[in-house]
Amino acid sequence: MNQILLFGGSGILGSEVLRYLNAESYEYVAPTSTDLDIRDKEQLFKFISELKPSWIINCAAWTNVDGAESSFREAWELNSIAVKNLGTAAGLVGCKVIHISTDYVFYGESSNPYDESSPVNPVNKYGESKLEGENALLDVAPEAYVIRTSWLYGASGKNFVKTIAGKAIQNQVARVVNDQVGSPTSARDLAGAIMSIVSNQPEPGIYNYSNEGSCSWFEFAQRIYERVGANPSLVSPISSDSLNLIARRPRYSLLSKEKWKSSGLAEVPRWEDSLDLLLPEIVAKLR
Ligand SMILES: NC(=O)c1ccc[n+]([C@@H]2O[C@H](COP(=O)([O-])OP(=O)(O)OC[C@H]3O[C@@H](n4cnc5c(N)ncnc54)[C@H](OP(=O)(O)O)[C@@H]3O)[C@@H](O)[C@H]2O)c1
Repeated sequence: MNQILLFGGSGILGSEVLRYLNAESYEYVAPTSTDLDIRDKEQLFKFISELKPSWIINCAAWTNVDGAESSFREAWELNSIAVKNLGTAAGLVGCKVIHISTDYVFYGESSNPYDESSPVNPVNKYGESKLEGENALLDVAPEAYVIRTSWLYGASGKNFVKTIAGKAIQNQVARVVNDQVGSPTSARDLAGAIMSIVSNQPEPGIYNYSNEGSCSWFEFAQRIYERVGANPSLVSPISSDSLNLIARRPRYSLLSKEKWKSSGLAEVPRWEDSLDLLLPEIVAKLR
């Protein structure tokens, strides 16, 4: 039986992986960041060498995109150095690694979906720290898997769908950018996708996974309002520039899933269908 070591089990994605592991009765260990700060190299090596898991699934990350602009070192320590250490420690015990990365490794001015070999050029410091993590991991653990994803949402943690659904329930207005296009990703789908790597063990390397289809954040918000039973005209479109965010965001970050689909891994549902499935649970938690 595979024993799985999960990092980041309290996050948007990690909590869905945890849910999956419980539902499928996997043997796993999921230390919190208080149990094990993965930036502590000595403790990380000790933990992995004593446990000797078959797989490490790393959902832990510095995800404060704007904060990474001024605190790059902190973001880099978690998103790159800790990931490299994790890969080295995994190699010492013959353990496979699945690590999560981001569409922000691309600058986002393309008009065609990015595939796994598209040239990278991080759009911001967070993306830079994540790209360095990918490279560092694949350097020390060439057999590792890196899954790039985008616009992640779920029932746990702070995320766009929860914020917008909260406004919709209260019939509040929402101002949402309409000049960034991408693909939402249900953390529940991605958790299943990660576990399909464990079951199928395709060729190692980088894989894209997000839901199928594309939209702007504005269209995404309108769909949430509609499904919650609120009036979508309460959502108004604004430009990214008007938000004055610290970190730049990609205008276009659609990820091609051709490699994923041809590798016989978990299905890639459309974003609308996955939203419809998860939204009632998110709304129930908000009410
Ligand atoms: N959110 C998105 O839209 C998005 C988009 C593309 C890619 N991604 C990537 O997807 C992955 C999952 O993201 P997410 O949004 O689920 O993250 P999240 O909700 O922000 O959760 C981050 C997790 O990392 C843990 N963590 C933080 N510092 C740690 C440390 N020093 N040691 C151990 N654990 C630590 C946190 O634990 P505590 O709660 O205890 O701090 C939490 O469980 C990340 O790799 C992220 O870069 C996310």
